[in-house]
Amino acid sequence: MKKVYIKTWGCQMNEYDSSIIINILKNKNQYIKTIDEKKADILILNTCSIREKAQEKVFDQLGRWKILKNKNKKILIAVGGCVASQEGLKIKKRANYVDIIFGPRNIHKLPFMIKNFYKNQKSSINIKFDSINSKYKKKIYNLNVKSVTGLISIMEGCNNYCTFCIVPYTRGREESRPMNSIISEINQMSKKGVKEINLLGQNVNSYKSKTINGKIYSFADLLTAISNIDGIEKIRFTTSNPMDFNEDIIDVYKNISKISSFLHLPIQSGSNKILNLMKRRYDIKKYKKIVNKLSIARKNIRIGSDFIVGFPGETKKDFEKTIKLVQEINFDTSFSFIYSPRPGTPSLRLKDNVSVQEKKNRLYKLQNILQKQLIKWNKSMIGTIQRVLVHGFSRKDKQQLSGKTDNNKVVNFYGNSKIIGRFVNIKITGVHVNSLKGILI
Ligand code: SAH
Ligand code: F3S
Repeated sequence: MKKVYIKTWGCQMNEYDSSIIINILKNKNQYIKTIDEKKADILILNTCSIREKAQEKVFDQLGRWKILKNKNKKILIAVGGCVASQEGLKIKKRANYVDIIFGPRNIHKLPFMIKNFYKNQKSSINIKFDSINSKYKKKIYNLNVKSVTGLISIMEGCNNYCTFCIVPYTRGREESRPMNSIISEINQMSKKGVKEINLLGQNVNSYKSKTINGKIYSFADLLTAISNIDGIEKIRFTTSNPMDFNEDIIDVYKNISKISSFLHLPIQSGSNKILNLMKRRYDIKKYKKIVNKLSIARKNIRIGSDFIVGFPGETKKDFEKTIKLVQEINFDTSFSFIYSPRPGTPSLRLKDNVSVQEKKNRLYKLQNILQKQLIKWNKSMIGTIQRVLVHGFSRKDKQQLSGKTDNNKVVNFYGNSKIIGRFVNIKITGVHVNSLKGILI
């Protein structure tokens, strides 16, 4: 049996795709997974190109794998994900020892491409945007889940074309996965012990599944259907564009307690001028309205966000508007980045007159405030009793267990490993930036 090593960068979507790749390959009983790249017959790199100079990172990694291939010519190297989609044959031109290039929407073709390579010794490339139905046709789901928490993709691609974002070009047009396919996968996961589900999509709010008799199911319908699956106790999702966050979804927060009380709702900027240049299709007023309605529907809701600083044309005044908004909303866990020009995106044509140093200063200031808010939120939980799903051993200290609260906080505590996979009550006793400390009660 050939040994497959896979390295995954970037988002949860890539993590999920990598787990499907492993499942597809294992399914044929010709391949097994290895965690030691030096022992692998097949090396797969699943890449991300959302920010930074992703191409360079890819070639650095490939350079290291070239050394392995020089020692053993039979090693097969495959590159997938968004950089594969973005660069295509250019990868082969620069690194001729790469044998297979495949896009995020062709992972189901990989067994065929690998087989073909072994048969004809010919390299191949497939970065077409195949329909989501072909990806899930073979029903090769996340069959090997060993954890109590499961990732599941509910849609591919994005139609929003925010001017800074490369995703619509690397992952193609938006397409929702049929609801019955999603429900069937979650049913299987639940039977294997999964209790918490994390739905993935670039913009989950615009999910739409059409049945043969013409009925259309929305994202709110999907959430309701999942909440009715036996064994599924917690539902999280990522990510939502505020643009089409509608009343139906707010009602779901009111009516379904299985939906997590943490919502990641990226705003990007606090200036309407910048939001307009980014083509985000909402304004600050709409964002605040959603947050207000949500806090009425779910009293203890926490909101997290993504921010881009130094977008072309962002003046000091625009940035101050972001700071003001952050102070007003009081965000929980959030992410912030310096604007990174991406090949082929419309924002490249905008005049970028903010210096690198100024961008760094703005990021530093924003992150400082966000971190203070985060710590304050964490501290407000000290003394409370939280219902925690125990995921497994703590990453840093294997003597401790680790789980997640309803509002998406990691909690570490001492306990018997027999409670892994169960919900337990934990009293919060202390905080770090990225996690909480607690005791089992
Ligand atoms: N729809 C997805 C988008 C994924 S990108 C989502 O909302 O999660 C995740 C975050 O990366 C975005 O919200 C944005 O803040 C950031 N990002 C995307 N493109 C970027 C770029 N060119 N420069 C800097 N940050 C970017
Ligand atoms: Fe990107 Fe905007 Fe879609 S950030 S993934 S184009 S919603």
